[in-house]
Amino acid sequence: MQAWKDYQSQNKDRFLEELLDLLRIPSVSADSKYKDDVKRCAEAVKDYMLKAGCDKAEVCPTAGHPIVYGEKIVDPKLPTVLVYGHYDVQPADPLNLWTSGPFDPVIKDGRIFARGACDDKGQMFMHIKALEVMAKTNSLPCNVKIMVEGEEEVGSNNLGIFLEQNKEKLKANVVLVSDTSMISMEHPSIESGLRGLAYMEVEVNGPNRDLHSGVYGGAVANPATILCKMIASMHDENNHITIPGFYDKVQVLSDGERKAINSAPFDLDEYKTELGVSDVWGEKGYTTLERTGIRPTLEVNGIWGGYIGEGAKTVLPAKANAKISMRLVPNQSSDEIADMFKAHFEKIAPAGVKVTVTAHHGGEAVVTPTDSPAYLAAAKAIMTTFGKEPIPTRGGGSIPIVALFEKTLGLKTVLLGFGLDNDNIHSPNEKYDVFNYFKGIETIPYFHKYFAETF
Ligand code: BES
Ligand code: MN
Ligand code: MN
Repeated sequence: MQAWKDYQSQNKDRFLEELLDLLRIPSVSADSKYKDDVKRCAEAVKDYMLKAGCDKAEVCPTAGHPIVYGEKIVDPKLPTVLVYGHYDVQPADPLNLWTSGPFDPVIKDGRIFARGACDDKGQMFMHIKALEVMAKTNSLPCNVKIMVEGEEEVGSNNLGIFLEQNKEKLKANVVLVSDTSMISMEHPSIESGLRGLAYMEVEVNGPNRDLHSGVYGGAVANPATILCKMIASMHDENNHITIPGFYDKVQVLSDGERKAINSAPFDLDEYKTELGVSDVWGEKGYTTLERTGIRPTLEVNGIWGGYIGEGAKTVLPAKANAKISMRLVPNQSSDEIADMFKAHFEKIAPAGVKVTVTAHHGGEAVVTPTDSPAYLAAAKAIMTTFGKEPIPTRGGGSIPIVALFEKTLGLKTVLLGFGLDNDNIHSPNEKYDVFNYFKGIETIPYFHKYFAETF
């Protein structure tokens, strides 16, 4: 479509400047200190929706951070694509590891560095710009509804409620999301699944106060030692997870499916070098791509207790804590796994300590079929702009709301992500390649076109 190309190239600089402006707003959803910035970001997203040509756009308040909703209905008889993204970002710390300010975006070597550059402001904004391209050239092939939330990074609880309350408003034929990654620009790919999540927090309590480790050490259970032992026991010598029943419902893949997953381009040496590790680790009997795509995992996300200040302090801490999350695969239930974890953790606690286990947010895994009209439209769009057939992959990350799109709205999702695994999402120096940003804006209109043509 020449008109799309022309409009995009005539407005390239502005498309980039506007994204940088959005990245300057520190919309950190987890930290209440940024509540007003999060709101300001929602307002900015709404303004961009209107500027892109939406008939209406609104900031919808929730019990937490607002949801921004906009739509352009060209003809009620045409199919409708519901676009989803998030404008909230992860906290930026540790700040000292950033080479430039997390909310002071800079472009270096063709890459945009800022918190949210890839996850998900950069990717979400491609949709607003793609909508602008189609609307301003009067070539929108379908109706577009666009919903951008401010709580993805904290579990999307209020969006779940919003879906329940707005089924009619959100009526569509498919959900389109750009919040995942590709293998590379040379090997474009589409994630055909996401893992679920069960996020837990544990506390091990020992004596009623911190103790002198010489006076009492060796005679009273040390909560930090006990916690480490308990955590260590949750993987066996083959790195299988030892929680009873954990694997019971795990979907077993056929040899053919496993072969397909392992046929994706992947260089183990490059992987190790890029991460600075001398070897990989993981569940025996599975490859790295399987370990991150189709197998469940258990990871410690944080652990603390006792003295961590400067110098040395001989203390036996009264308690120790950890945040532990499990990535889940199809058929595992987040609630069931959380219950299993709690029962197991309480059971393995030795005498002399008391443990408490609380569950944070969770979400279910999803697989998106690779033979649906929507997936095929996405594949054709990639084919058009990359000149290559996309490779289906299984993503390791989680977007809990995607399972609810199906459960609450009855809608399948297409994960048309343009990030790269090394974009440092959630890490210092998050980046998004300028090339990927424009490639996304170029590709998205073709998805709408090809998807509409299937009706
Ligand atoms: N965009 C990510 C998820 C993602 C990243 C999927 C890369 C596939 C590839 C999303 O913003 C995210 O970080 N989700 C969280 C879960 C949420 C409940 C905090 C995650 O995966 O940890
Ligand atoms: Mn994201
Ligand atoms: Mn994220």
